[in-house]
Amino acid sequence: MKILKAGAAGIRKAAALIRGGGVVAFPTETVYGLGADGLDPAACARLFEIKGRPRFDPLILHECTAARARKLFSRVPGPALKLMRKFWPGPLTLVLPKARSVPDIVTAGLPTVAVRVPADPRALALIKAAGRPIAAPSANSFGRLSPTTAAHVWKQLGGGPDLILDGGGTRIGLESTIITFEGGRPVLLRAGGLPLEEIEKIAGPAAAPGKARKGRPPAPGCLKKHYAPSAGLRIIAPGGKVKAGAGAAYLAFSKKPSGKFRAVEVLSRAGNLREAAARLFSALHRLERSGAAVIYAERVPAKGLGRAIMDRLRRASA
Ligand code: TXA
Ligand code: MG
Repeated sequence: MKILKAGAAGIRKAAALIRGGGVVAFPTETVYGLGADGLDPAACARLFEIKGRPRFDPLILHECTAARARKLFSRVPGPALKLMRKFWPGPLTLVLPKARSVPDIVTAGLPTVAVRVPADPRALALIKAAGRPIAAPSANSFGRLSPTTAAHVWKQLGGGPDLILDGGGTRIGLESTIITFEGGRPVLLRAGGLPLEEIEKIAGPAAAPGKARKGRPPAPGCLKKHYAPSAGLRIIAPGGKVKAGAGAAYLAFSKKPSGKFRAVEVLSRAGNLREAAARLFSALHRLERSGAAVIYAERVPAKGLGRAIMDRLRRASA
């Protein structure tokens, strides 16, 4: 049995697999994660193999309480502490100096580690039952669309994981926001499910990534081309003129396009960014499946969650 409902029995089985060095895909409130014992280098190595992910791309450790998560860091600046108190559990990942207990394979040799406390109760129950931090990248093949349903995981990874926990569609639908600190100020490494504006209210205005990072991607894994559907993706203005037809699919923000397309998805009829974010990857998965050669995607307002949506669309179009 490869797929189990994310109920009590499924979670028990998943935790036992993780304690034994296995790999389990599980739902979080952002996207599905591909989890393994975060303190076991051999188990973590399997995550890279199953995803086809390069070893220089570090993993996120997931804990079930902020108190346990803090122990994975060696130092926590004051404003980072405030963010933990306000937003954990939730779609926020903090990158800070790592504790000695964190294996090098998790951080790809970096002196910092990425940690978050997810909000999905099934994810929390799994971490608690496993009794250790769970290392979990998104449960997709490297560079492909992130999974927001168990079926997405199955389609990309098949029998790679030892088990897939099916918890239905994920609530937020975008990966977590990743924040680090430089000179006491927050720095955005990846836009995500928690809007930057919310973070700045608590931790002060964000700084641009420092000099040391220039010319390198802000997070090692934030490569320019990422989250990519297999069709070509082109970003357009809402209602902009494009060539309709059987070879083209259309991703609208709030209004259906007028022409005939092979497939059309509307992210939010009400023009609501939260709803649009939650549906983004599912919509892209469906448009990809339609077999269209090109997907036209409308720009969304680049504020709040719109920033993360535009980030994913830009990478998918690179
Ligand atoms: O919502 C999420 O964050 C999901 C769920 C499963 O929690 N996880 C996720 O993991 O998106 P992943 O591996 O697909 O993306 C993690 C990103 C990568 O781009 C990686 O490069 C970056 O976090 N990262 C991890 N450790 C880092 C570090 N020490 N410094 C900078 N970036 C880091
Ligand atoms: Mg990912």
